[in-house]
Amino acid sequence: MTMNKLIDEAINIRKNAYVPYSKFQVGAALLTKSGKIYTGCNIENAAYSVACCAERVTIFKALSEGETEFVEMAVAADTNRPVPPCGSCRQVMSEFFDSKMNIHLTNTNKETKTFTMEELLPFSFSTNDLLGE
Ligand code: THU
Repeated sequence: MTMNKLIDEAINIRKNAYVPYSKFQVGAALLTKSGKIYTGCNIENAAYSVACCAERVTIFKALSEGETEFVEMAVAADTNRPVPPCGSCRQVMSEFFDSKMNIHLTNTNKETKTFTMEELLPFSFSTNDLLGE
């Protein structure tokens, strides 16, 4: 099942997180329509505010390789509940993910909750608002 594969990949890639400041490792895995899985982890910086979350690293990796169509994503961290993505990542997800796309949030015990994009970020600002549509 793809969800389980994505969850395993998201948990596994946490080992590469560069988190000397928060020590909080996050991993993500994204399945593209072409069948490829992109993974990513969070990367921090001494200038704290320029850190990049695992979700955005993963999405940007895929986009920069020319991927534009996405099927499913998993995000994992060592949290008590399935890790909720931050607001900035939800906004980036909503730019590229279909409103019905599933995002699996999990923790290292694989306690998982699945949300659609529109459930994660309802009433989101989008290109339609810019265009006055
Ligand atoms: N972080 C993520 O990578 N994804 C999230 O959804 C929440 C937060 C990272 C950013 C920072 O490196 C660390 O977790 C603590 O906020």
